[in-house]
Amino acid sequence: MKSIVILISGRGSNMEAIVQAAIPGARIAAVISNRPNAGGLAFAAAQGIATAVVDHTAYADRAAFDAALAAVINRHAPDLVVLAGFMRVLTPDFVRQYEGRLINIHPSLLPSFTGLHTHQRALEAGVRVHGTTVHFVTAELDCGPIIIQAVVPVMAGDDEAALSARVLAQEHRIFPQAVRWIVEDRVSIDGSVARVAGVREPGVLISPPPEDV
Ligand code: GAR
Repeated sequence: MKSIVILISGRGSNMEAIVQAAIPGARIAAVISNRPNAGGLAFAAAQGIATAVVDHTAYADRAAFDAALAAVINRHAPDLVVLAGFMRVLTPDFVRQYEGRLINIHPSLLPSFTGLHTHQRALEAGVRVHGTTVHFVTAELDCGPIIIQAVVPVMAGDDEAALSARVLAQEHRIFPQAVRWIVEDRVSIDGSVARVAGVREPGVLISPPPEDV
């Protein structure tokens, strides 16, 4: 049985999707938030999952916060640490500690649109497709070997809310899929590329093409 710790900062819908996937061989050992009022904590607690808050505002700097966070994570001896809408930049020391077992979901087709406000920036750039990426975390923000991506069309008349909802629906599909592959020991890292054993088209899902308007 693999032990998984999930980090959240807010709503936690991706964490919820992973919990509800009930992945064989995986146990969600804890859900940890850096914000005391994160909505996802209530869901996790109601599922009987251990929850904890490590409030970043209580620490003098990133290094102190990351050390406190790691101490709480390590109580659960995780095989995998999952960043599910965890909105903190992590220090290289923290990342190194979990190398190869730390993954993140980012709301864009990386390497496009790293950072924040990805949906609005995609609309402003006029891209025709957008999406989401699950990747291993490396010291550089929103980089790291890509495990799976989902592509969605950008539609005429989209605003940020419409586009982000379309992407979020795909996040809820690909994040549990990525966790499942890792739990099944099918994902390996080859330099800057992640490979998934037994997947011919390695993890690109394309939602139905847009209809004419
Ligand atoms: C998700 O869209 C996720 O991709 C994004 O935050 C949202 C969290 O939603 N993550 C980032 O922007 C990380 N830089 P959730 O709390 O409902 O899972």
